[in-house]
Amino acid sequence: MNTPWYHKTTIYQIYPRSFFDSNRDGIGDLKGIILKLDYIHQLGFETLWISPFFSSPQADTGYDISSYTDIAPEYGSMDEALQLIDEVHQRGMKIVFDMVMNHTSIEHPWFKESRTSRNNPKSDWYIWRDSHLPSLGEGLGVRAKPNNWQSLTGGSGWHYSPERKQYFWSSFLPFQPDLNYRNPEVKKTMSDTVRFWLNKGVDGFRLDIFNVIYKNAEFRNNPFSFKLLPTEDDPSGFFQEAKFNLNQPESFAFAKELRSVCDEFGEKILLGEVSGDRSIIRKFLGDDVNNGLGLVFDFEMLNFQFSADYFRKLIERIEIHFPDPFMPVYVFSNHDRRRSIHKLGEDLRKAKLLALLQLTVRGVPCVYYGEEIGMTDLPQPFNTAMDPVPHKFRSIPRFVFDLLGLTINRDEVRTPMQWDSTPNAGFSSAGKTWLPVHKNYSKINVERASKAEDSLLNTIQGLMKVRNHERSLQEGSLEILSGLPKGILGYTRKLNKEKVAILLNFDPQPRKFEFEYSECLFKLSKTDNLANAKLHLNGYSGMILKA
Ligand code: NOJ
Repeated sequence: MNTPWYHKTTIYQIYPRSFFDSNRDGIGDLKGIILKLDYIHQLGFETLWISPFFSSPQADTGYDISSYTDIAPEYGSMDEALQLIDEVHQRGMKIVFDMVMNHTSIEHPWFKESRTSRNNPKSDWYIWRDSHLPSLGEGLGVRAKPNNWQSLTGGSGWHYSPERKQYFWSSFLPFQPDLNYRNPEVKKTMSDTVRFWLNKGVDGFRLDIFNVIYKNAEFRNNPFSFKLLPTEDDPSGFFQEAKFNLNQPESFAFAKELRSVCDEFGEKILLGEVSGDRSIIRKFLGDDVNNGLGLVFDFEMLNFQFSADYFRKLIERIEIHFPDPFMPVYVFSNHDRRRSIHKLGEDLRKAKLLALLQLTVRGVPCVYYGEEIGMTDLPQPFNTAMDPVPHKFRSIPRFVFDLLGLTINRDEVRTPMQWDSTPNAGFSSAGKTWLPVHKNYSKINVERASKAEDSLLNTIQGLMKVRNHERSLQEGSLEILSGLPKGILGYTRKLNKEKVAILLNFDPQPRKFEFEYSECLFKLSKTDNLANAKLHLNGYSGMILKA
């Protein structure tokens, strides 16, 4: 079986509001992305994933959609969206839209209609339930939520609507009601929405919180759990096991249905945002023939530890759960979590080593805009946040979240892209940008990084050249090397007769050890060296060698 293109690709995530503002309103836009396409192309990435830019009241910056087939005016027009698709393709690249299928905005006309009565044409398009206590008559009786389920942001996800005297369910925030996929009309309409964009040439979708798309049909109460906070490998938390509101068998089946919708248009990428134990999230990929989503994020690694031992174990576990023909995704930053540079103590040597790993390990790398120049988070107060999440937690002092390592105010990781050292980091020539630009922009920016030979940016560009040239790095099998000195991680990638080895020194100390390979394809540090079967690696350095 041929490897699909989306298993060999490299992904660059754009948060459109913060990428480039072409019309001086302080907000990034589609035209801005078009103007910067050559930058991403020259960096060497093949696929762009763009966070949502559809019509939306922007209460969750676009993850609350009020029309799936219209473009929010601040981002541009349908013509510009089509131009973007075309310009990406002209460069031989692919474009992935963000499909928020699970929920709409509360402002979506479907929800507005649905909430008016219990018997309108859209009345069953959302998840409506009665109080679990019987009413004692008009206006009498106690209101009690239909069951004990918690939303992903904590607290009950049931919200009362006086018009219908019923509760609707929101997996995320109250203004994002979940669609009811048990209603065939909803399923059909959303599959047609997918077709709408595929017809316009989109190469596939990233699927927002896809693991909550179906809920238990009987709405059974979740069992008690001692777990206080959800984690990446186990979404249970807030003292209950998330047994009936996510990762349901119907969601795995729906993944396959979506794959067949996409198959009508050729080889299309479906990248699921799901969470849970790897043995569970693997089910979204389909059976052994890989007939489901094809790719899912693995979020455990967003909380990586910088050590050879950690990454060896991570890769081993991933190889067990996602063996060929499955393909894992390696991601260290995104628009919801702290940027990876934070976990690296802002040490660019470590960031280069992490990039070497991400771009050579068996998997699809997904890089968040600005990660390539080491853009840092910008701490901002909760009470003025654009992000709705911190407002929910305003009464809890910030240090509590810092201690728990939680990113509550996602504005901090979404600040404008730092292009150069002109005002607003070259992101916008408006007086005020939608989020403040980080003060460090005169030091950390694309222009400056591109001029420094050994910058993170140039390192990534160099690595991408090697990856794009060596097929073994794109689709070869992986084997972890044993018997290496402490602090060194090594693995090989092999495809037919092609074989490369990757050696990474996670220690600050240099290391010298015996290693027999013929040619060096890439090295992080100029003084790394392979001679007479002896390999010398500087601290936090690494190499790609060819057999
Ligand atoms: C996950 C997205 O990544 C996040 O940004 C968004 O707020 C929620 N889903 C709700 O759509």
